[in-house]
Amino acid sequence: MLKTELAGVKLQNPTVLASGIRGVTGASLVHMAKEGAGAVTTKSISLKERKGHPNPVILTFEAGIVNAVGLSNPGAEEALPEIEYAVKNAKVPVIASIFASTITEFGKVAEIVSKANPQLIEVNISCPNVEDEFGRPFACDPGISTVVIQKIKKVTKIPVFAKLTPNTARIGEIAKAAEKGGADGITAINTVGPGMLINIEAAKPILSNKVGGISGPAIKPIALKCVYEIHKSTSLPIIGTGGVTTGRDAVEMIMAGASAVGIASGVYYRGPGIFKSVTEEIQKFMEAEGYRSIKEMRGIAHEE
Ligand SMILES: Cc1cc2nc3c(=O)[nH]c(=O)nc-3n(C[C@H](O)[C@H](O)[C@H](O)COP(=O)(O)O)c2cc1C
Repeated sequence: MLKTELAGVKLQNPTVLASGIRGVTGASLVHMAKEGAGAVTTKSISLKERKGHPNPVILTFEAGIVNAVGLSNPGAEEALPEIEYAVKNAKVPVIASIFASTITEFGKVAEIVSKANPQLIEVNISCPNVEDEFGRPFACDPGISTVVIQKIKKVTKIPVFAKLTPNTARIGEIAKAAEKGGADGITAINTVGPGMLINIEAAKPILSNKVGGISGPAIKPIALKCVYEIHKSTSLPIIGTGGVTTGRDAVEMIMAGASAVGIASGVYYRGPGIFKSVTEEIQKFMEAEGYRSIKEMRGIAHEE
């Protein structure tokens, strides 16, 4: 009943650990799988090590999280054994998330992580802090999105998902452009913003970076609208991500057009038990309403 599929990759349930939380080591990816995630995504990996921003980098507020982690990671070669460990031990599909600051570098990182044989590669062309040669986030430009995916498809046989930013008025068009480049699926959305929180006693922004990406329940309506638009413009599978903390949120995502549902912030403040609780709540809802499969619910909100 809860089985789903992403570009031929089978998941026992539609919950996916999204990139950025508990995804640096092989051991923590395996732990998330044991807790019930249907698939697990690594923290985004770049060619060379990145230190990220100084603390504080993650702040919670009433409706979510503001983060400016700054894509810290050990670099592709160092990350390789961690992905290999997860692929060997997780017993669920492993998604290797990659990013780069130039198109050529994207190809190189994809080539390196492919050696670990993850089931999917997710291309983070959306992080607000990574720009193209003209200073724009990659995913804001349909032409560049096509070229980045083309570059990656040339160097790997592993199915590729493009992860998109909501910080554009043209997300459907950008999903289509990624498809044109050969993308096998779309992950949407990355964080919204940037935004800011202020420490009123210190009279200063709290994050060392001053601004950061917004995630968690506050962004759910934006994520739903983006997934809905993407599903309207392409039939590619979608990992709907953004503000999911309950089974009902997950069902909304699926009805907007998602085949699976990414969870990041929810793991941060609810703990890894969230995968089981979301999965059980989806099942309860399906039984109560008479739905027999995820496929049957997918995109149903589009019907007139
Ligand atoms: C602390 C933190 C770190 C993140 N790091 C990454 C990352 O490395 N790569 C990426 O593609 N997305 C990253 N994200 C974005 C999440 O994968 C997700 O797209 C976004 O947070 C929306 O989902 P959520 O509301 O469930 O958190 C990060 C999010 C948070 C909160």
